[in-house]
Amino acid sequence: MSYRGPAVYERSDPFKELGGDFFVVKTIEMVDGKVRMLDQSRLPLEVKYIDCTDYKMVAEGIKKLCIRGAPAIGIAAAMGVAIGARQIKAMDFDEFYAGLGPVFSTILSTRPTAVNIEWAINRLKQLLVSNKESGIEKLKDLLMDEANDILAEDIEVNKAIGRFGAHIIKDGDTIITHCNAGSLATGGYGTATAPMRTAKEQGKKIQVIADETRPVLQGCRLTAWELMQDGIDVTLITDNAAGALMKKGEIDLAIVGTDRTAANGDVANKIGTYSLAILCKEHDIPFYVAAPTSSIDFSIASGDHIPIEERAPEEVTCIWGHRIAPEGVKVRNLAFDVTPAKYVTGIITEKGVFKPKELYKLKAMM
Ligand code: MRU
Repeated sequence: MSYRGPAVYERSDPFKELGGDFFVVKTIEMVDGKVRMLDQSRLPLEVKYIDCTDYKMVAEGIKKLCIRGAPAIGIAAAMGVAIGARQIKAMDFDEFYAGLGPVFSTILSTRPTAVNIEWAINRLKQLLVSNKESGIEKLKDLLMDEANDILAEDIEVNKAIGRFGAHIIKDGDTIITHCNAGSLATGGYGTATAPMRTAKEQGKKIQVIADETRPVLQGCRLTAWELMQDGIDVTLITDNAAGALMKKGEIDLAIVGTDRTAANGDVANKIGTYSLAILCKEHDIPFYVAAPTSSIDFSIASGDHIPIEERAPEEVTCIWGHRIAPEGVKVRNLAFDVTPAKYVTGIITEKGVFKPKELYKLKAMM
């Protein structure tokens, strides 16, 4: 089946109230058996949703960064499997499970660095295996429910990260962040942005510095946009400016997200995170990583084993279709880097804040 361009919907209500005094953007939801995602590749200029009617459209949406951010693509993966399963006609469990093979592999092949896709798919596989006697139609319903649960749980997890992480933030702090680990990167509320949102709800006056995050500009297009919706004081800088601001004493704290954190606390996150962490070390600035446990991969000992996605050169040579580099120039476009655990002050999870060396304590709690 060839990929058809998804239907595009313009919506006037991208924000939903979750209680308290904050709003979160609706990043993704299931609507009438379709996966509806906010097309982040168009933000902030256009707020448009796409409706994915089959799993291949979901996979394409993940690849093209219509939806991005580790937890959000984990949720999309689960929803993609759930709608993919609906299209399978099978007589028994084995036939059904075999029919899901291409669905799993297509979705798994979209983006290699974020462990959340694998995490979500493994969760669905376990659910299927432990309910194999339930009948095919029941299994399809269970997959839908589980995908929706993964979305709902993600928001709760982020709020818990917010509660633990807010203790780190002092009244008056200026916090730097990289890429977008906000509502848009999750089911809602964000991971790195969660402590900021909670600190604000607690009445602390904070300022956020958003790195623009070349080449896809998630900090500029997404973090700045969503924090402004929340009334959080945000200032956009070029990636190159972080060190200069630190030297002037204008930054108190760094909080970033992660796509995959290894058992030893090495952190894979958006390219440029490693440089930011080294700058923090040099300037004695605490460097925290907000990581839901779904982004921690205890199966790998260190960051050396994290696959790093390399993306198309056009993301570097062009900005929104406009060429800015000479034709034929060689390009490396690594989408992520790995920050060694020695630069990480702490990892803020939904179960508490852990030093990288203490992650074994978190593993014991799971
Ligand atoms: O390429 P992206 O935009 O998917 O990269 C996203 C990031 O690097 C985020 O910081 C990470 O996924 C954590 S999101 C809570």
